Amino acid sequence: MSLPAPQSDRTCLVTGASSGIGEEIAGLLAARGLGVTLVARTESKLLALADALRARHGVRVEVLATDLADADACSALPGRVADLGLAVNVLVNNAGFSTLGPVYRSDAEREIAMVRTDVEAVVHLCALFTPAMVERRSGCILNVASTAAFQPIPGQAGYGASKAFVLSYSHAIREELRSQGVTVTALCPGPVETGFAEVAGFDQTEIAETMPKMFWVPAVDVARAGVEGMDANRAVVIPGLPNRASAAFGWLSPRRLLLPVVAKAHPAMRDA
Ligand SMILES: NC(=O)c1ccc[n+]([C@@H]2O[C@H](COP(=O)([O-])OP(=O)(O)OC[C@H]3O[C@@H](n4cnc5c(N)ncnc54)[C@H](OP(=O)(O)O)[C@@H]3O)[C@@H](O)[C@H]2O)c1
Repeated sequence: MSLPAPQSDRTCLVTGASSGIGEEIAGLLAARGLGVTLVARTESKLLALADALRARHGVRVEVLATDLADADACSALPGRVADLGLAVNVLVNNAGFSTLGPVYRSDAEREIAMVRTDVEAVVHLCALFTPAMVERRSGCILNVASTAAFQPIPGQAGYGASKAFVLSYSHAIREELRSQGVTVTALCPGPVETGFAEVAGFDQTEIAETMPKMFWVPAVDVARAGVEGMDANRAVVIPGLPNRASAAFGWLSPRRLLLPVVAKAHPAMRDA
């Protein structure tokens, strides 16, 4: 087992904890008696979740409202955690979102904000929090990628590439940290019903038509697979057999044959 035992001066920092998969991961960690530090932009949601987790599990919960697309705000996080008298021994990089549509029709600022949140913040927080983990020879990292990591996605080019980065990066730092007492797991969900589709701007009917029911996994089951995978020190966790099959297919298929099919099926590419 690699998840640490509860300690009063240690915390699990969970980004994107105000909704969806991150909220469920925070709940599962708290249910194990671990103190959690909740990070996202929407402070009101984090405060409500903090109250609920304290009441339900009797654990210590802090809220650090942060815009992770802001590099200065990321840089400030270790100091804010230290000011609480805490050290991070579990880091869950879950915050993220996708844009939708071909790049030639994109909002450049939003594309960059996505890469800052989905990629830069992951790199930033791993670089900031791993030195102390290595020094203590104890720590667990869970990076939330996606099955979008296993093949390029015309219609969500920046998102697919961001998640491919997170997957590759997680594999590489897992190897670097193997002898340092720190574990790294990449969680790669397929479709999950959360706030994600609405933030991206997917039409619910179109997405239901494109993604057959068998691929959908509830957020709590995705979170449980991630937490258990981190505890078991697994390199990659893909919740659901159909998603594991589709990831393998996406990974192995020749791009020249696969990408026209992916583009044709993607709702955001229909009138492109
Ligand atoms: N849902 C899916 O189908 C699916 C599939 C595969 C992978 N994923 C990945 O799973 C992760 C969680 O997504 P979800 O499905 O749970 O979606 P969600 O319900 O929309 O949650 C996204 C979380 O990220 C936070 N966030 C977004 N931008 C942020 C920023 N700039 N700074 C700080 N926090 C930010 C949001 O909080 P605030 O808005 O309060 O900041 C929210 O807590 C993401 O990395 C996503 O790419 C999702």
